[in-house]
Formats: sequence, C-alpha cells, structure tokens
Amino acid sequence: MAYSEKVMDHFANPRNVGEIPDADGVGEVGNSKCGDIMRMYIKVENNIITDVKFKTFGCGAAIATSSMATEMVKGKSIDEALQLTNRAVMEALDGLPPVKVHCSVLAEQAIKAAVSDYYTRRGIDPTPIVGVIPQCEEGHCG
Ligand code: FES
Repeated sequence: MAYSEKVMDHFANPRNVGEIPDADGVGEVGNSKCGDIMRMYIKVENNIITDVKFKTFGCGAAIATSSMATEMVKGKSIDEALQLTNRAVMEALDGLPPVKVHCSVLAEQAIKAAVSDYYTRRGIDPTPIVGVIPQCEEGHCG
C-alpha cells in the first residue's frame, strides 16, 4: 500500500513543528522496537489546548501522524483531546499501511503524555483521567 496524498503532505510540510518553551505540559513517548521518539508540547488556557507543537525523531509516518494529531487537538478541550484515537488520526490521513499503524499509536500516546504532564504539574494525579501511558522501555527517550 502506498502512502496517501495526505500522509505525503503532512510528511513534507508538517504542521506545528517545534517547541513551546513555556509549555504547560510536555509528553515524550517512544517505541522501543523502531527507536522512534515523539515529543509534544501543549499550552492550556481554561481547559482548552490553545497551542500545540511537536518534535518527532522518527519515520515519515510518525511525522505525518504527529502533524495531523496536533491539528486535530489544537483549539479543543483537554477532554476532547484525550478522546483522540490513533484510528481517527489514521482516518484523517486517509489510512496508513499496516506496518505503520504503530506510528499513529505513538501520536495518540504523545498527546496523552503531554496532558498527563499538564495534570502532574498542577498537582493532580493524571492516572485516573488519562490512564497509564506505556513509556519507552529501553532508555531511548531520556
Ligand atoms: Fe516507528 Fe514509525 S517506524 S514510529
């Protein structure tokens, strides 16, 4: 299966690349098999994600899914962002080859990790809200 035009577009022209120096939440996730790492930064005001940026050290599909995920959560409430699934990201990109599904999982997890960090910084235990996010097991993400 070839990549869709949307995947190629988000890979070639990724949206929201970069860092937010005064971010309210930063999440980093990695896949220990491929070694790819995704970092998401969010800015939150009144429970709304007003800005989001990402840095992805990974494959083209990881870059495309990060880019699309940031577009999908920008301007949304935290609750809406937490409902973002990797499937929704893949559908928005008109699909991914089966071997690249895990890249979209990373995008979903990166958003959740950033929200998790946002709650932790505010002294709120994120686990009941966000759940447990699998972390990089092999120390790639340090
Ligand atoms: Fe691992 Fe894409 S190959 S994130």
